[in-house]
Amino acid sequence: MNVGLIGVGTVGGGTYKVLTENFQEIFHKTGIEIKVTLVADKNVALAKQLVGTSIPVVSDALELIDSKEVDIVVELIGGTGIAKDLVKQALLNGKHVVTANKALIALHGKELFAAAENNNVQLAYEAAVAGGIPIIKALREGLAANKIEWVAGIINGTTNYILTEMKENNLSFDVALKQAQELGFAEADPTFDIEGVDAAHKITIMASIAFGIPINFDGVFVEGISNLNQKDITYAEELGYRIKLLAIAKSEQDSVEIRVHPTLIPEKRLVANVSGPMNAVLVKGNMVGPTLYYGAGAGAEPTASAVVADIIDIARQSKISTKSLIPSLGFMPNQIKNKKLLAIEEVWSEFYLRLTMENKSGLLAKITNIFANHKISIDALVHKEVQEDNQDPDIFLVSSKVQEHQINKVIKEIEALPENKDKIIKLRIEELK
Ligand code: NDP
Ligand code: HSE
Repeated sequence: MNVGLIGVGTVGGGTYKVLTENFQEIFHKTGIEIKVTLVADKNVALAKQLVGTSIPVVSDALELIDSKEVDIVVELIGGTGIAKDLVKQALLNGKHVVTANKALIALHGKELFAAAENNNVQLAYEAAVAGGIPIIKALREGLAANKIEWVAGIINGTTNYILTEMKENNLSFDVALKQAQELGFAEADPTFDIEGVDAAHKITIMASIAFGIPINFDGVFVEGISNLNQKDITYAEELGYRIKLLAIAKSEQDSVEIRVHPTLIPEKRLVANVSGPMNAVLVKGNMVGPTLYYGAGAGAEPTASAVVADIIDIARQSKISTKSLIPSLGFMPNQIKNKKLLAIEEVWSEFYLRLTMENKSGLLAKITNIFANHKISIDALVHKEVQEDNQDPDIFLVSSKVQEHQINKVIKEIEALPENKDKIIKLRIEELK
């Protein structure tokens, strides 16, 4: 099996390393010699430094996808521009494609899977979700017997690294982000990480596989961590929670909810303790119950581990057929059906609110009255002691489980009080039970 590698940056470099260093291991497991026969990268000189002189390097990736020396094209350049054209053309050329590009699958998966199907080849994307964790295989194969009820996970290594560094080492947001970039975890445009877009790409893909719904990135509610305040990380801890950027997909009888946002998770949950660039995905199946998958979500070798697993799958299956026995999205294509997508206002959750109010007598009574008028109970309320004379106290609380439009009304009324001094901070809580 001849592999053509497009892009030898972080993941491409890792993929080359895994294929060469573990060549014998892979041969023993497959009986197939899997070799890199051609490399394409914009920076030919740098690519040559990596792969040496024995493997040809070209700057034009079109040359690679047209080459007779390539059976499997591995796209590791990223983005949805040139990467899409190359992947589509490779499939039309009758070549299998392996990619780690979640943006590409989340935005153009439907078209590309159809192209793969029509040309009797495979488009594999294990590395696109949760780096080295084989979560696509788990959902499509290991849990195939189940109706999946929900999926929830920490699926962006960069943001988890930032949150960990802010909490444990008191690093500022910007310094932690810079470190994540230097370590190769972040996207080319890191706003994709910090604004939750990358996690949204990934949960879009998982939701489709879990529930048999079309890939629909536009339906995901997305809120990132860029506005997260250190105070809330500390106060959440006082209440027994950790804040994580969580991606959640839930399926009810006729509807689904798919969302990404900073989330308070009880500290006793295993996922609350996932730190650094590590990822964790919880999947609840109706027969198996909850299952948990943990591992490195970003970085060269862990991601390459998933890329190479896809290459191995294709190589093994090609002994029988060029097509995979496993549908690309786990469900038979004619069984992929739309479900009603809930707006965030319709979703049920407990909420953490932080209020900035002038310290006046009777204030707490006013706040609790507003909650009582809306028949929402307060499960916890902390009124911080004032440190200095001219300072207003912080008030933070946890509401009972309500639909988001209900808590929004409460927030609006509290913000209209004369004592209110700033926008109320609202964060969602997930018990993950
Ligand atoms: P990098 O930026 O490190 O590597 C991309 C490489 O592709 C660079 O060497 C770049 O060259 C080259 N390149 C860009 N455009 C072209 C082109 N038109 N033709 C040939 N080569 C090109 O990215 P990563 O390795 O981090 O990411 C690659 C993909 O993997 C992305 O889709 C990303 O989302 C995904 N991914 C990344 C993970 C990670 O931990 N980094 C984990 C999981 C998935 P140059 O630098 O000169 O532009
Ligand atoms: N930027 C991504 C992350 C890479 O930080 O998780 C892995 O998909």
